[in-house]
Amino acid sequence: MSPQKLVRESIAEQIYAIIKEEILLAKRKPGEQLNPRKLAEEFESSVMPVRDALKQLVDEGLVVRKPRVGFFVRSFSRQEIKEIMEVRKLYELYCLESYFERIDREKLIFLLERCMLRDWPAIKDPEFDRLDDDIHDLIVSASENVFLIESYNNIKDRIFLIRHLGGSKARQANEEHILLIQAILNNDKGKAKEILQAHIDRVTCEVLP
Ligand code: NI
Repeated sequence: MSPQKLVRESIAEQIYAIIKEEILLAKRKPGEQLNPRKLAEEFESSVMPVRDALKQLVDEGLVVRKPRVGFFVRSFSRQEIKEIMEVRKLYELYCLESYFERIDREKLIFLLERCMLRDWPAIKDPEFDRLDDDIHDLIVSASENVFLIESYNNIKDRIFLIRHLGGSKARQANEEHILLIQAILNNDKGKAKEILQAHIDRVTCEVLP
């Protein structure tokens, strides 16, 4: 490999990482066009590494390429959002049901403290998103099943993409997380399942177009 190509690849890697984060944090919205020339200007690079980065994001399903039109941040139809959330519910409820006893209670207490640490704003922020992920991840990771966790992670990027659609309500989600954690800590499996199901259903309604 020529040194020039190596440099180009590392620049493409960095651009890829930045654009990916911007998409996942909804700084670039679903349906938004990603113009390689404009991006190259933004990154003060040539167009080639930007195109390489965009191609990688196309491979990951976060960006779509429309022939002769260009690159766009992936958007989801109502039906697709419903389907993604159905899969999510399948994994999380299954893990809650099957591995209830194995969910790490010490980590749960720590998460509960994080929930109560502050008055979360009406609009979601990255810190809330991390907390949200940690709570749902803890339930799925209780399975200790690497194949299950891997498949769950496959749909996670898509969940990230859709979760900022509509008016996300961090305060309400936080209240639901607290009730969920308390139900698990009280070893009330039935109640925990009810809360988790209602939480995912509500979040689904929130993001549906
Ligand atoms: Ni949540």
